[in-house]
Amino acid sequence: MKEKTLLIIKPDAVERNLIGKIIMMCEENGFVIKNIQMKKLEKEEAESFYAIHKEKEFFNKLVDYVTSGPIVAVLLERENAIEILRDLIGNTDPKKAKPGTIRFLFGLDITRNSVHASDSKESFEYEVKHFFE
Ligand code: CMP
Repeated sequence: MKEKTLLIIKPDAVERNLIGKIIMMCEENGFVIKNIQMKKLEKEEAESFYAIHKEKEFFNKLVDYVTSGPIVAVLLERENAIEILRDLIGNTDPKKAKPGTIRFLFGLDITRNSVHASDSKESFEYEVKHFFE
């Protein structure tokens, strides 16, 4: 059955003109773009989006980074979308990501790791509301 998921292209990737390459990798892997939006997040929006991490020591650094420039939110669809997109983006830490994954290819470090993808149906339902109806 077709499933939707959310990809965020983060400020480090937008800044380095990687939007096209990242979207191309998604399309080449069978994802269909259902909606897309470029947006500069306000601090409150970023804190809400990443609320699950609010007790983590890296939370403030993460919020500062993700509000440092525009991001691109992409609503994607395919069979088994959530799991397949997580595999395609790779490990949170680009140094640990498998060759060929988006974070391996483009990530700079564990904070500036180029992309975010929903990790479950529940997080997708929560996260998508920040960008799309
Ligand atoms: P993301 O998949 O968007 O989910 C949470 C984000 O927090 C993560 O990608 C990184 O950008 C950031 N992050 C996760 N772990 C760390 C860490 N140990 N130090 C700094 N930033 C982190």
